[in-house]
Amino acid sequence: MNPTLLRPHAEQLFAGELAALRAADTLPVPPSWSMSPNAVVRYLLGGETVEGVEITPKYIGPRRLMEVAVATLATDRALLLLGVPGTAKTWVSEHLAAAVTGDSTLLVQGTAGTVEEAVRYGWNYARLIAEGPSEQALVPSPIMTAMRDGKIARLEELTRIPSEVQDALITVLSEKTLPIPELGTEVQATQGFNVIATANDRDRGVNDLSSALRRRFNTVVLPLPASLDDEVEIVTRRVADISGSLQLPEVPTSADEIRRVVTVFRELRSGLTADGRNKLKQPSGTLSTAEAISVVTQGIAMSAHFGDGVLRPADTAAGIVGAVVKDPVNDGVVWLEYLEAVVRERDGWADFYRASRDVLNS
Ligand SMILES: Nc1ncnc2c1ncn2[C@@H]1O[C@H](COP(=O)(O)OP(=O)(O)O)[C@@H](O)[C@H]1O
Ligand SMILES: [Mg+2]
Repeated sequence: MNPTLLRPHAEQLFAGELAALRAADTLPVPPSWSMSPNAVVRYLLGGETVEGVEITPKYIGPRRLMEVAVATLATDRALLLLGVPGTAKTWVSEHLAAAVTGDSTLLVQGTAGTVEEAVRYGWNYARLIAEGPSEQALVPSPIMTAMRDGKIARLEELTRIPSEVQDALITVLSEKTLPIPELGTEVQATQGFNVIATANDRDRGVNDLSSALRRRFNTVVLPLPASLDDEVEIVTRRVADISGSLQLPEVPTSADEIRRVVTVFRELRSGLTADGRNKLKQPSGTLSTAEAISVVTQGIAMSAHFGDGVLRPADTAAGIVGAVVKDPVNDGVVWLEYLEAVVRERDGWADFYRASRDVLNS
């Protein structure tokens, strides 16, 4: 028996949707793409039934952004998804690659320790020493593989990569070639090759992109969810997906509980209560949508295993406090003020107020 994968790739998980969209696609398909740009956008936004298969929404937000992102991939410029943490940059990048070329796995994770080999190529040292430099001793990077096969390479957290390593990308993106001086050859990109990079707004200045590199990218900024309803929908959908794949016991999630988590996050993030009446101090954390998803998922696990099987304020309070209070001194003050000035006064929030006080006193 095959063990169930904890996290299948998008092209595995949504194989049925992708196949239906391909089958129904009548529009022109760019070279090496598996479907038309229009079908890729429909895959991302979902909300329709194609060939009897329901296309689920992956990205919830402005359609225009997805159109620009997909159109960019069909040009000779690379795509840079920029935004604060938790705005679905990685998520959109994976789904784009899955829909465009059916392969989201050609991935380079950018860190301060990313070396040139991760962007160009490395060597199998045993073979290199035994046989000298040869095609067989060469270890291609995901980017080199994508160039060869006309696929999409994904580069996560581009601005964390040291500048000199970033520079190695310039030839790749402008000349579409990767020279291999040791073999006196080069790898030339084939049609369909492109790069999707992601970068964090908050990291600005860590290893800022050189203007030479920036010019090779078309930037799409992914915004925070525009409205409370949008964000509630994102959290509700993702929590259902995640608890399904984790096979958490069914917990009736009261929509009110999710709405409360999202409301607390949005109010503290913006420094203003939803009715616009009270100014609030802002905590140091980002309080992203992604964190709201984790708080609710954790709440469901708590409720299923230690609670009464219904998502209650007591199940989410600890998670909310944990997300808000990153720095016990300053954030602690922010949270206490919010609790006393807003939560305590609000209709229907008495249970949540009590549960939050309990967390502080425990
Ligand atoms: N607008 C959105 N539409 C759909 N999912 C979203 C949206 N914003 C955030 N998410 C969810 O938030 C989670 C984290 O997103 P991620 O791509 O890791 O963020 P980032 O890379 O921007 O830090 C994902 O599970 C994603 O589904
Ligand atoms: Mg990310």
